[in-house]
Amino acid sequence: MLNMSKTTPLLQTLRSFSGYRSISNVSIIGGGLMGSGIAQVAAAAGNDVNVIEVNDKALEKSKAIITKSLERVAKNKFKDDPSKAASYAPSILKKISFTQDLGVVKGSGLVLEAIVENLVAKQKLFKEVELLTTDTTILASNTSSIQIKDIALHSNRKDKFAGLHFFNPVPMMKLLEVISTQETSQDTYRKLMNWGQSIGKVCVTCKDTPGFIVNRLLVPYLVQGVLMYERGDASTTDIDIAMKLGAGYPMGPFELADYVGLDVILFILQGWVKNHPDNASFVVPKTLEKLVQEGKLGVKSGSGFYNYDKKGK
Ligand code: 3HC
Repeated sequence: MLNMSKTTPLLQTLRSFSGYRSISNVSIIGGGLMGSGIAQVAAAAGNDVNVIEVNDKALEKSKAIITKSLERVAKNKFKDDPSKAASYAPSILKKISFTQDLGVVKGSGLVLEAIVENLVAKQKLFKEVELLTTDTTILASNTSSIQIKDIALHSNRKDKFAGLHFFNPVPMMKLLEVISTQETSQDTYRKLMNWGQSIGKVCVTCKDTPGFIVNRLLVPYLVQGVLMYERGDASTTDIDIAMKLGAGYPMGPFELADYVGLDVILFILQGWVKNHPDNASFVVPKTLEKLVQEGKLGVKSGSGFYNYDKKGK
């Protein structure tokens, strides 16, 4: 009989590959669109989830985002069974605690941050989280453009630190980027890959580079679309139609920019221009700056490249 108290290197390897002590209790800090989406898919896959926010209003908003999305999923998933469709959202919501108490991270196998894209705020948050957790907890960031090594700069547990980058809308987008820094341990990486798969995502691995895989390609592409429009080569509508019908993209660059948020894209670009001034693909188009200055942030503010209030363009 196998003696479970003794761990050989082979057994350790087998255990880490099979997701031994796999993650089943997750804390998501930040209940915006991304954090709520992550909480939803984690709970739907059977995890116990905490959503941590700074006030009741933000928690209520997170719960509303998740409820609405779960109802959309249920409508699709249980087309022919209205009673199952009706009970789906409440049954998943039961797995999620909405709280302002950061102390709940104590019992989590994974603490994932999805707060504002501010390096100092993220570093400060993880300092607090480290004090509240033990070294069995994995710490991860859903940052879209900040390097993980910078967020982990002051961490005493760099081997447990990684990036988990999800895509909007999280319940629909199948991809999860798993980012290891030079100090992330193989064990942490494997646990995150296993967890990502367990919540139904297709995981890809990327080094800790600006924008990882998707944003590194996507954001310069969006920029080229805006520059094309600024030069007067084609209208926003025609560029969008062209990329949807000519390249098979679900949204054109302007629809997607509005969907992601023009402030988010501007922030990513400004950080890259500052930190990598010699990279020719990192430029800030004037139109993007102007729209953000005017408060036109895309779908969420009612207008961006397109106008959503009047459903016009
Ligand atoms: N939750 C649950 N179900 C959803 C959903 C959501 N948030 N969004 C869509 N659905 C499901 C619903 O069943 C919906 O049917 P319903 O409207 O009757 O409820 C069905 O999908 C169809 O949805 P839509 O009619 O709204 O439209 P589409 O079929 O075009 O799908 C889309 C919407 C999935 C958003 C698609 O347009 C798409 O893939 N767009 C590209 C998104 C993309 O590129 N995302 C990545 C952005 S980059 C990023 O996030 C990284 C970050 O770091 C910046």
